[in-house]
Amino acid sequence: MPKTKISIAVLVSGSGTNLQALIDAQNNGILKSGKVSLVISNNADAYAVTRAENANIKTAIISHKEFGDAGMEAKIIDQLNENKIDLIILAGFMRILSADFTRKYDHRIINVHPSLIPSFCGEGYYGLRVHEEALKKGVKVTGATVHFVNEIPDGGEIILQKAVTVPENSTPKSLQKRVMKLAEWKILPKACEIISNKILKGEI
Ligand code: GAR
Repeated sequence: MPKTKISIAVLVSGSGTNLQALIDAQNNGILKSGKVSLVISNNADAYAVTRAENANIKTAIISHKEFGDAGMEAKIIDQLNENKIDLIILAGFMRILSADFTRKYDHRIINVHPSLIPSFCGEGYYGLRVHEEALKKGVKVTGATVHFVNEIPDGGEIILQKAVTVPENSTPKSLQKRVMKLAEWKILPKACEIISNKILKGEI
């Protein structure tokens, strides 16, 4: 029988609100061509792990602190193979993956980034820092991007973007929340469905 859904692994490090958006999208039918079947965290204390457990999704903790970056990647690959994963989603995963890793999974890794790439992206731009820099620069519009991951940090092909206005008196935290709510939690599930569907149909 042909497959009706591909298997997705989500890599996380923190609070996991984007993982939650994917779980919700599965439940409300926005994400229908893929199923989140594994969550891997490099941080045992990440609330994302609790979110996965609450949704009965298999979890693995693979710490770069314990194994080093290369060791962590080798163990991630073992998990991806064991669980027959077709697509990897980076949802607040705070390590940069090596060129060997990203080449092995060409067009099979997607990331959500909290700015309109090519603004405020690349090495050193992650989490709250992105919003601090956007506010320092005084931009009036920011947003989020979902893109394929290649060997250049935040440099892969763009899949979806959504713009968000920057209200006066924003703080990095208020802007982060706004960008998540109005952009990230919407475009990540949508992009995930688009790419899952293409993989399912053998188009990519
Ligand atoms: C999100 O804003 C995500 O875009 C960002 O970290 C946050 C994770 O939140 N990712 C990066 O900055 C990657 N360069 P979450 O754990 O609640 O999804």
